[in-house]
Amino acid sequence: MPFPHGKTLIAPSILSADFARMGEECSHILAAGGDLLHLDVMDGHFVPNLTMGPDLCRGLRRALANAYLDVHLMVTDPGQYVETFAKAGANNFTFHVEVVEPGAIGALRDRVKAAGMDAGLAINPPTPVERILPHVAGFDLLLVMSVNPGFSGQAFIGSVLEKTRLVRRAIGPLSPGGPRVQMDGGISPLNAGQVREAGCDVLVAASALFGKPAGERAGVVSQLRG
Ligand code: DX5
Ligand code: ZN
Repeated sequence: MPFPHGKTLIAPSILSADFARMGEECSHILAAGGDLLHLDVMDGHFVPNLTMGPDLCRGLRRALANAYLDVHLMVTDPGQYVETFAKAGANNFTFHVEVVEPGAIGALRDRVKAAGMDAGLAINPPTPVERILPHVAGFDLLLVMSVNPGFSGQAFIGSVLEKTRLVRRAIGPLSPGGPRVQMDGGISPLNAGQVREAGCDVLVAASALFGKPAGERAGVVSQLRG
């Protein structure tokens, strides 16, 4: 399944959803205008938190046949989980540039694609943009982190906007079916304009959406989209 259409996509991160009512939270946020679901997978090693794994992905796929499931792997060994997430119904598999040897990034991307998923490459705020620029070709998504990953509800790190501009320049302007630039962490209606202006066209938000009462979430989605 290709990325949903649209100039700016809003990707609710289910990390801030009510885990006891996950199915309901997910179908509601999609009905409220969310374009896809962002699943934050954490292993307690690459980041200091434990969250969700392939079983949740499989459950969401079963419950929401048409949802685009965007899996963000914050783990030290993403290669271990490629086929597992493909079988669990993931549509996109994003791994971090910090955990893969530069010479192995292309091969891992090809494995993700061969497994039938879109491929994303992520970069953390302290990592220099030069680490990612030589590898952008062939990826469907470049993810510029705007917090140090691990938890939702952290403050936005504005200095990553410059990095985003350089990534966007390296892959060219947004075109139908072309690669997308995603930003993740601390995004709210207050900074979404700057994020979009820097060349980002997939905005992840957890607390800004799920931190609001259900009835207000559609309004936040449209504010984020601009
Ligand atoms: C951060 C995760 C994010 C997080 C975003 O480690 O990758 O996806 O859930 O949460 P907010 O939008 O609350 O910063
Ligand atoms: Zn994420």
